[in-house]
Amino acid sequence: MDATFRLAISYSAHLLGTILWIGWSFLLVVASTTQDDVFVNRLRRWMPWALLGFAVLGGSGFYQMVVDAHYEDLLAITNAWSRAMLVKHLLYGLELVLLVWLELVFFPEFGLQQRIRDAGRFAPHYETMLRRLRLVAWVNGLLAVSVLVATAYMTALP
Ligand code: HEM
Repeated sequence: MDATFRLAISYSAHLLGTILWIGWSFLLVVASTTQDDVFVNRLRRWMPWALLGFAVLGGSGFYQMVVDAHYEDLLAITNAWSRAMLVKHLLYGLELVLLVWLELVFFPEFGLQQRIRDAGRFAPHYETMLRRLRLVAWVNGLLAVSVLVATAYMTALP
C-alpha cells in the first residue's frame, strides 16, 4: 500500500474519531444544560463510542505525526509545529484523565444518586452532582475546542 493511501486512511479515521468524540462532547454540554436525566443516562450509555473515537484519534494522530514533514524526533520541540503538537498532547492527556474520571468515578456515583432518588428517598448529592456535571461538560467542551484551535494552527503553518 502506498504512503499517500495509508495517510488518507489515517486522516479518515482521525476525522471519524473527531466526529465521535466531539459529537459526544457537544451532546454532553446540551444534556447537562437541560439537566434531563434520561438524556444524561443515554450519553453515559453512548460513552464507549466517545472512548473509541478518542482512542482512534490517539492511534491515527501518532501515525500522522511521525510521517509529517515538520516532525523531527520524539520530544524534539524545535519548531512552531512541534510546539503546537506538544500542546495537543497535553490537551489529549488532560482529556484522558477527565474521561477516565467520568467513566470510573462520576457516572457510577451519579447513577447511585439517581437510583436513591427514583426509589423516592432523599439523594443528598444528586443536585450537587448535576451542577458538577454541567461544569465538567463545559470544561470538556473547552478542551475539545482548544484541540481544534491547535490543529488549525498546525495546518495553517507552511
Ligand atoms: C484530542 C483529540 C484530537 C482531535 C479532536 C484531533 C483533530 C484533528 C483534526 C480535525 C485534524 C485535521 C483533519 C485531518 O486532516 O484529518 C487533525 C490533524 C492532525 N492531528 Fe489530530 N486530533 C486529536 C488528537 C491528536 C493526537 C493525540 C495527535 C498525535 C499523537 C494528533 C496528530 C495530528 C496530526 C499530526 C495532524 C496533521 C496536522 C497538520 O496538518 O500539520 N492529533 N487532528
